[in-house]
Amino acid sequence: MQAWLRSLSFPVPSSVSDAVSLARFELERALPAYSFRLSVQPELGEGWSFSRRDGEACLAGGPAGLLYGAYHLIQLSLSGQALPEEAASAPRYALRMINCWDNMDGTVERGYAGRSLFFEGGAFQYDPDRIRSLGRLLASVGLNVLCINNVNVHFPAQLLLEDLLPDLAALADLLRPFCVRLMISVDFSQPLRHGLPSADPLDPAVRAWWAEAANRVYAAIPDLAGFLVKADSENRPGPHAYGRSHAEGANMLAEALRPHGGVLVWRAFVYNCHQDWRDTATDRPRAPWELYMPMDGQFADNVILQVKHGPFDFQVREPLSPLLLSLRHTPMAMELQLAQEYTGHQIDIYAMPPMWQELFRDLPADRICAITAVSNLGRDENLTGHPFAALNLFAFGRLAWDPAVDPAEVTRQWARLTYAFPEAQERQLVSLLMGSRRVYEKYTAPLGLGWMVNPHVHYGPNPSGYEFDQWGTYHKANHTAVGIDRTRNGTGYLSQYPESFQRRYGDPSVCPDLDLLFFHRLPYSFVMKDGRTLLQRIYDDHFEGYEEAAAMQETLKALPFPEPDAGVIQERMQRQLANAREWRDVINTFFFRLSGIPDQHGRVIYD
Ligand code: GCU
Repeated sequence: MQAWLRSLSFPVPSSVSDAVSLARFELERALPAYSFRLSVQPELGEGWSFSRRDGEACLAGGPAGLLYGAYHLIQLSLSGQALPEEAASAPRYALRMINCWDNMDGTVERGYAGRSLFFEGGAFQYDPDRIRSLGRLLASVGLNVLCINNVNVHFPAQLLLEDLLPDLAALADLLRPFCVRLMISVDFSQPLRHGLPSADPLDPAVRAWWAEAANRVYAAIPDLAGFLVKADSENRPGPHAYGRSHAEGANMLAEALRPHGGVLVWRAFVYNCHQDWRDTATDRPRAPWELYMPMDGQFADNVILQVKHGPFDFQVREPLSPLLLSLRHTPMAMELQLAQEYTGHQIDIYAMPPMWQELFRDLPADRICAITAVSNLGRDENLTGHPFAALNLFAFGRLAWDPAVDPAEVTRQWARLTYAFPEAQERQLVSLLMGSRRVYEKYTAPLGLGWMVNPHVHYGPNPSGYEFDQWGTYHKANHTAVGIDRTRNGTGYLSQYPESFQRRYGDPSVCPDLDLLFFHRLPYSFVMKDGRTLLQRIYDDHFEGYEEAAAMQETLKALPFPEPDAGVIQERMQRQLANAREWRDVINTFFFRLSGIPDQHGRVIYD
């Protein structure tokens, strides 16, 4: 259960009820060789400083800072390092949130680690010790907000604002010592459930209803972080039904939260999900920028616009969302997805830190004020299904604290804390993990094209599964070419970017290979920078991807994982290999049958 904190096997007793006593408890139990002096300095907030002189170890910080400092020191020690003479740290972002997509019937939307940790059968149902362990895990990497219910708010989650408040408050109490605050997803049309004829954000009765709802919630949970809203997106209700803008909708909710210090997190994942595939004037990635740019500066200061990192939806590779680079007067959160919806369902290995480093290469850290990620957690014994999926949670916490964190270093820290292998084996594991995204990328949809997955499930290949559907995710492969031209000669999407990005992506002879088919429509005969044709590159990547997955299996067999991880890792690797084989053959066959062009190396492609 304890993932990277396996050696903290002692439970946190329920009597430990605040962050300072928790920090003291953890330090005394985990590092008995030291005598710590804890100095509460509220002005340090979530930051902390540490010094060690003449046998005395002094940790200073606000209550949360003390807790984060304590976990930092404990993890240093658990990974075999000596405590430093001096150290200090503070988080880059104030809001570091996990978004659970848990439904109250116990299912988890896009959940690959079992049922909900919080709900079952339409009610709260959890093991308090497990929730405390979860709190410890989140706090150990500095995560401070947990949104517990799905952004698609299904009944009875609407009752979180009403009858279920005492249960919500009880959960908040459990997590409070860990400095993890709750957030809830709310349904924009909620007032309709209470006899109001509309949910129009400019209607005074609606505004009064939300203000009252916020008063009720904050009376029960005074430190609730706020509300999260998915509106006018994938058939969810929203202000557009009343001819109102998203700024008007968000500001109305923000006003209700303001007296309580709450934030309103508004998701920017809005696009036409009823597109006619024949319609070439609409290009889905353009949607968020087109909707929100005209509203820049119109949002209240306690609204945060939550923008997915790419313009589509958590594909293996997408360029950074141009919205993140363009809004100047709107506080934004970048949304990542730890749940491996399109990246292997926590069956296939997919370590995310290298991808996140690429995002922050393009995104100046100060363009956003918060960072959030869709949860990969569930009721499975190990919490994340695949034991390696815990790396993504661990690394997300580290990244949210410091976006400049080195992916290899964070992966190494996780591996060391989790498995404590001898150095050579640790290196093998870290290198396998660091390469895992590229392997997955090679055997799935090619060169930035994305999608090509089995519809709805999003695991396994189906090149035309979404091609004639309404979701705006088309590849338009025919017998000579593939992709959509998103330059100014095409859909114009590329024009949403700053000049330097337009230079990077605009010319196919300059555009990085791995992004080529995101931005361009190209003939199979297009010659890549290394002299290979586009189609040969697709074939090569798919053959290599499978071979590399097979090599991963061999490496893993030789590493001394303890049980139960060893069994789970082998079993999932076997499934990954079967998936890689399926992808390889389906994608290669798809392009071969369309183009009639054989593999130059004569490998097997099915006719
Ligand atoms: C994806 C995902 C949905 C989810 C949506 C969202 O489309 O498949 O399950 O609801 O993203 O982010 O809201």
